Amino acid sequence: MLGILGGSGLYNIDGLKILEEKKVMTPYGEPSDSYIIAEYGGRKVVFLPRHGRGHRYPPHLINYRANLWGFRKLGVDRILSVSAVGGINPLLQAGDFVITDQFIDFTKVRPNTFYEGEYTIRDGTDDREDLVNRYLSEDRVVHVDMTQPFCPVMRSLLGSIMEEKGYRYHRKGTYVATEGPRLETPAEIRAFGLLGGDVVGMTLVPEVVLARELAIHFASVNVVTNLAAGISGEKLTSDEVIEMMRAKTEELKQVILSFIQKIPEKLECGCDTVLEGAAI
Ligand code: HPA
Repeated sequence: MLGILGGSGLYNIDGLKILEEKKVMTPYGEPSDSYIIAEYGGRKVVFLPRHGRGHRYPPHLINYRANLWGFRKLGVDRILSVSAVGGINPLLQAGDFVITDQFIDFTKVRPNTFYEGEYTIRDGTDDREDLVNRYLSEDRVVHVDMTQPFCPVMRSLLGSIMEEKGYRYHRKGTYVATEGPRLETPAEIRAFGLLGGDVVGMTLVPEVVLARELAIHFASVNVVTNLAAGISGEKLTSDEVIEMMRAKTEELKQVILSFIQKIPEKLECGCDTVLEGAAI
């Protein structure tokens, strides 16, 4: 089943038929909100706004492990994430979509793994026989491969949907993840650009990392809501971020609905076998 993670300005998706809301508890604590189980074209999906409805959790305090574990508990094996980003690459314009293929991690204080060896927290109610539960039950340390952090099949489907709809998009891009909640200095943005960063945001890490640790396929659609600090010379505001996300809501909805319809049952990539050989 597909999970959808909504970002700033995307707290629900109209067009989906809502079946039920589910509150899920996890051994890592409470997810950002209840999960919304919905249906579109005969397919079930699960939606979660990562900041909670009303935007209650700032990026550094989101309980990412709870959010991802909750998706797993509900049977999600693939996640489409939507987020707002600042554009670093001069080729990017505000309003562009970017389907990221790499990230650089500058976050600082976020739990970013389920596998904590002697300190591992386990879910006694999850009895699935898979590598996740095996590694957790054996208190193993896991170094998950990040050569291809995002699901190539999902990225390619997103690209073809953008193409078909005629939206301005970039089929790849490197996401620089910052700790936030403050915005960046122009000096930081210049440095990120020199390192190869195309966009900057505060939430994709550790989301993609934790999804991969659960062998969940993961792809991200990023909306360039603003040019990053120092590029336009103007002061940045949260108002412009939310305004641009609102302006792109209809296009995002079209992309998501088409994605739900078109995603194949079986994804032919390495995401679901990434845990093989990953534990020590
Ligand atoms: N920086 C960090 N995160 C963001 C930005 C930005 O400029 N825009 C939207 N999310």
